Order: sequence, then structure tokens, then C-alpha cells
Amino acid sequence: MGLLDDVDEILIPESALQSRVRELGHAISSDYEGKEPLLVGILTGAFLFLADRLRHVTIPCQVDFMATSSYGVGTESSGIVRILKDLDQTIEGRHVLIVDDIIDTGLTMDYMLETLKARYPASLRVCALLDKVPRRRREVRIDYRGFEIPDKFVVGYGLDFAGRYRNVPFVCVLKPQVYG
Ligand code: IMP
Ligand code: MG
Repeated sequence: MGLLDDVDEILIPESALQSRVRELGHAISSDYEGKEPLLVGILTGAFLFLADRLRHVTIPCQVDFMATSSYGVGTESSGIVRILKDLDQTIEGRHVLIVDDIIDTGLTMDYMLETLKARYPASLRVCALLDKVPRRRREVRIDYRGFEIPDKFVVGYGLDFAGRYRNVPFVCVLKPQVYG
């Protein structure tokens, strides 16, 4: 049994991901021209998206990471956000772009925005690969969005279920028996 045997439905194929990621890279390159932005990846889910997109950013920029946690091993947010790893750099006066894999309830991003806003960045924007609109509990403005998806727990392209499936190269839904 391989990983792919657990896949029920592919929502976003690899080719669609790659072309959207390229578009976002180009948009960021032109919007941040002359500003040397700091891209803040939210670990662990955003690592593939950030890395792939970075290859299409053609202006000088820097990268840093934060790690947050709001999930246990299940598919429901605990609603409590914890910072597991903070930024290495100070962001005062910097143009900061937070990069996450998915905005679900919005609790994580809302917390991140409040936290980073208090450090006086020159600007603060949000880039998310996926947007699960129907689940939103906090309003979050997404400045760069990859795809809107329905209310389904998805994995692949960096997103996990219980730590697995991050290496699946497309975004998919797993068979119900896998979620348990
Ligand atoms: P939120 O705080 O509910 O918006 O959740 C944000 C975080 O939960 C994301 O950064 C993901 O790490 C995780 N998450 C939310 N929905 C999914 C999903 O469908 N698959 C995998 N991870 C998810
Ligand atoms: Mg995440």
C-alpha cells in the first residue's frame, strides 16, 4: 500500500498548483519592486509553497519562518494558537508578507497579524495558497490567494494529516476511513 492509495479525490492537480504559484511569484515581484520584502513562512505547512513560489520572485527579498500550532492530531482546530518558533529577525520598518498554506477558521492568521502588527512593520500582507471560505470564524484579508476550496480537510503540497502526506505533489482529499 502506497500513500496514493489513501487518496479519494484530487482537488488541485500539480500543474495547476505550479502555474498559480508562478503567477503569485510574478505578482509579488512587481508589487514589491524596490521594497526588499521579508517573506515569513508559517511552518510547517507553507514550506513547499513558499519554496516553489520563491523561485518565481525576481526581486531582492529575505525569508524567515515562524511555527505555530493550533491543531492536535485531528482535523479540528483547537482554537488556541501557540507560537512554537518566533522570527529570527526584527521586522520594524520592513515590508512583511506572511505566507501560509491554508486559511481555515482564520484564527491562526488573525493571531499572527495581531502579533506582527505590534512590531511596527512598514506593511503587513497575507499570502495563502488555499482559502476555505465557509469555515471562517475571523475575518482575514488575503492579499494573495492561490485557490478557494470547499469545506473539506485536504492534504498534499505541504499540508498534512497527523504529520503525513506533505510530500504528495497535489492537493487532495483522503478516503474517509483514513481520517478515522
Ligand atoms: P486556522 O487557524 O483554522 O485558519 O487554521 C490554520 C492552519 O490549520 C493551517 O495553517 C493549516 O496548518 C491547518 N489546516 C487547516 N485546514 C487544513 C486542512 O484542510 N488540511 C491540513 N491542514 C489544515
Ligand atoms: Mg499551518
